[in-house]
Amino acid sequence: MRIPLIAGNWKMNKSVAEARAFVTAVQGKLPAPDKVETAIAAPALFLETMLEANVDQVLRVAAETCYYEDEGAYTGEISPKALHQMAIPYVICGHSERRRYFNETDDVINRKVQAVFRNGMTPIVCCDETMGRRESGEKIHWVVNQVSAALKGVSAEDAARIVVAYEPSWAIGSGTSASSDQAEEGCYLIRQTLADIYSDDLANGVRVLYGGSVKPDNIAGLMARGNVDGVLAGGSSLAEDSFIQLANYQNLEN
Ligand code: PGA
Repeated sequence: MRIPLIAGNWKMNKSVAEARAFVTAVQGKLPAPDKVETAIAAPALFLETMLEANVDQVLRVAAETCYYEDEGAYTGEISPKALHQMAIPYVICGHSERRRYFNETDDVINRKVQAVFRNGMTPIVCCDETMGRRESGEKIHWVVNQVSAALKGVSAEDAARIVVAYEPSWAIGSGTSASSDQAEEGCYLIRQTLADIYSDDLANGVRVLYGGSVKPDNIAGLMARGNVDGVLAGGSSLAEDSFIQLANYQNLEN
């Protein structure tokens, strides 16, 4: 059974004090992790404070990125080894903003995915899709390529733990989510790609998320689809109330 994963991505928002207040506020309000897993990916600066505030340890405190070397002369970078030592379970790799603003290529993302696995953590690999590519009918090729490139050289044993997110960049931050049909189609495509690279069994066990303007008023419709195992929410993960609503999506209707 694939346990749903409701993950937030704070991006470059909040202060340390706000991060602490958020984690304190969600204590006792999130579902049991064996029913619905919840995670917040936050700036590395906040992680230690968030871990301290996370008394009931239901929320998974995750990282938004890391470097692909474990340590060394890489000024300013975030060590995957150090993240693992802090007991961080998940690291987002290949978010479209990292691809666009920080020039992360498929090769860099693949190295990061390998570094995350090497250090005993799980990557949440994001696959992008621009409206131009969708309209030109190129989308299948594009998403499949991104998944294949991110997983190059990754063993089936590691890949069995991966989380992949279908994140059309035309929906991110736009206020308008993909329709549930579009989300289902993207997530299905990712699962098929995993089946082609590895096996049906592996693909059936892996969680595939949808991301792009997910909100409390559209999450239930997205989560109702068979290939959507969770969400990666940006804006609506910032406020405690809306993240708590997302996490408890089973009580919402849309
Ligand atoms: P959004 O961001 O929910 O604010 O659209 C999603 C993401 O970038 O992962």
